[in-house]
Amino acid sequence: MWPRLMRVRRSGRASGAVALRLLPTAADCKQCGQVRYTKPARTTAPRQTVGPLSNPLPHELVMHRVGVIGGDGIGPEVITFAVSALERAAPGAFEFDLLPYSSAYTAQHGRSLPAGEFARWRSAYDAILFGACGDPAYPGSSFGRDVLLGARTNLDLYANIRPLRSFDHRVSPLKSDENVDLVIVRENTEGAYVDQGAWTDKGTPQEQAHDTILATRSKTERVIRRAFELASSRLRREVCLVSKHNAIRYSHGLWREAFWHIAPEYPDISARELLADAAAMRFVQAPEAFDVVVCENFVGDILSDLGAALIGGLGLAPSANLGDGSLGLFEPVHGSAPDIAGTGHANPLAAILTAAMLAHHVGEHDAARRVSDAVYEVAKSGPKTPDLNGKSSTQAVTGAVLARLG
Ligand code: IPM
Ligand code: MG
Repeated sequence: MWPRLMRVRRSGRASGAVALRLLPTAADCKQCGQVRYTKPARTTAPRQTVGPLSNPLPHELVMHRVGVIGGDGIGPEVITFAVSALERAAPGAFEFDLLPYSSAYTAQHGRSLPAGEFARWRSAYDAILFGACGDPAYPGSSFGRDVLLGARTNLDLYANIRPLRSFDHRVSPLKSDENVDLVIVRENTEGAYVDQGAWTDKGTPQEQAHDTILATRSKTERVIRRAFELASSRLRREVCLVSKHNAIRYSHGLWREAFWHIAPEYPDISARELLADAAAMRFVQAPEAFDVVVCENFVGDILSDLGAALIGGLGLAPSANLGDGSLGLFEPVHGSAPDIAGTGHANPLAAILTAAMLAHHVGEHDAARRVSDAVYEVAKSGPKTPDLNGKSSTQAVTGAVLARLG
């Protein structure tokens, strides 16, 4: 059930629900670690200019269309509050289209999505806001694979940008009070996630299973460049490649070659590399030494959760899945947490930070910064959910964020 708090505008836009907004001026948002975009937000239908055509105003007016997938477990709860933060920070700037997909939907309809849905998203939306996948009531459901991994590959959202910033040393397992402020740029379409492999001779002593780890040079280079571009918008200006090329010689060897081929294109950014096992150790020993980390899909998946643990868990770990087109998919790194779903105590902050990344991506830089600032303020000194040693509810924590947004 979607709490009433959410005001969803459906796609029909004939009514006065269409809000007119001035395009913001482009500016970097270091708060959410987002890739720097200088292009203006894509103007979406209805595209309206104010004033007679012969004398157009200098700014176009836009509304950003967002497809919202709550998904499973705590997903719908936290995404509802993320939507309310966007509505508060930039009233009328977003139009939300609630999409029903979840493991339950998959079971009910015999498929996770209608045919052609990804193509529809490309023309219908500026962004997808995704909650979580995984519902123990539907073991083995293909929902997450079809929709989340499916969107990453079908929409070619090749860069998974995962910023992690310390906010309260009391919730970190680290002894040092050094600040973590890093961004993982995870390749999102290849590696061990290509779903190529085999499982043979089942039930015999010869039983074997293998998965392919795929690295395509062009696809590796584009995400490495993305990492360098991101580093150039940050203060530290460093990129660290994490791979396991000493054991995974072919695909990770290609990553290494691509990385050192591209690094000289960015002479003002320092480049270094670490083996994945050493990087895991350094994440714990000296996380403050990392700025931008670039890695293949599976390594990035593991480092994301490890990095999140360093700042006190997945409660403040957002992510953006981006490609070269304007459509991005935004999801908190955390899962569906079925054990606390429906208790009203899920931490909404990762989803709200994710919404800030979405706002930044569509050009609402001021709203993005205000939402992100509000989240970190609340995480430091506001009410907390139990994962951060507090007792407050999802709604109370969101309320504290909304109060800071005016
Ligand atoms: C993530 C998740 C997904 C992944 C799962 C749900 C398939 O863990 O976004 O990190 O492995 O990419
Ligand atoms: Mg993961």
